[in-house]
Amino acid sequence: MKKPTPNEIGQGYDAFADLLDQLWGVNLHHGYWEDASENVSVTGAANRLTDKLADLLTIEAGDRVLDLGCGIGEPAIRLATAHTIEVVGISISGRQVERAQERAVSAGLADRLSFELADAMDLPYPEESFDIVWALESLHHMPDRAHVLRQVTRVLRPGGRVAIGDFMLLPSAGGYEAGAARVNEASKGVLSVIGLDAYLAMIRAAGLVPVATEDVSKHTRPSWAKAEERFAALREQAVPHIGKEQFDLTLARFRAFSQEPALGYALLTAHKPA
Ligand SMILES: C[S@@+](CC[C@H](N)C(=O)[O-])C[C@H]1O[C@@H](n2cnc3c(N)ncnc32)[C@H](O)[C@@H]1O
Repeated sequence: MKKPTPNEIGQGYDAFADLLDQLWGVNLHHGYWEDASENVSVTGAANRLTDKLADLLTIEAGDRVLDLGCGIGEPAIRLATAHTIEVVGISISGRQVERAQERAVSAGLADRLSFELADAMDLPYPEESFDIVWALESLHHMPDRAHVLRQVTRVLRPGGRVAIGDFMLLPSAGGYEAGAARVNEASKGVLSVIGLDAYLAMIRAAGLVPVATEDVSKHTRPSWAKAEERFAALREQAVPHIGKEQFDLTLARFRAFSQEPALGYALLTAHKPA
């Protein structure tokens, strides 16, 4: 199945911009729940996932961070509130970049945060210009993860660090290939997943050294059912905006993913050799 191009992904996010706020709030990534019955808000659980990934990373005062696929800037704002760092965020959605910039101003962090419209497939930054690359739930969108990871290595300083939150393929009945095919079919090519070993091999092939790996699948899985429930409640606002067909397709996709045993989620960190 053909994967959408970066421009198509950007147009999709631009079109969904206001609905996404109502659906999921300011973070555009999964939440972390201890279990499906835990009484934590979506925003609380999503912030917790940001914090879990940040806790796996060494962040030092003065670090220059590239946020690859920054959404409307919430993870960058959270990181820059907790640490005296500079963050450059990029997104393929122009609307997200505008909103992230406005939100950085409102948070009083505009002197340390900036956001740009750019394609992670072709990073417009010189070699060795960042201490950290942070990619929370964005790599799955990109046409070629291995290529993006090589770009990441290029822009990192020696000794620089990488933090990734991404979907991954879990073993399931029928084997890896059948699981990957189901996920690909349900997402119409939007979500391409690989197993953890393949992911780690890809990180190594890009010239990086894996450091920490955490399988958080069972903690992020409740996100799909919550998204389905919240999206169903938005039917009246959503249908005039995106059409009935797209609405039904999205709802069905959330349901399929919440029940898909092959779809997991990993937090990963790595470093570039000094
Ligand atoms: C699921 S959202 C995650 C946003 C943000 N990391 C967060 O956690 O709130 C995916 C993000 O990846 C960005 N993205 C997807 N493909 C991209 C590309 N080729 N280059 C830059 N950003 C991209 C989208 O525009 C969006 O901001």
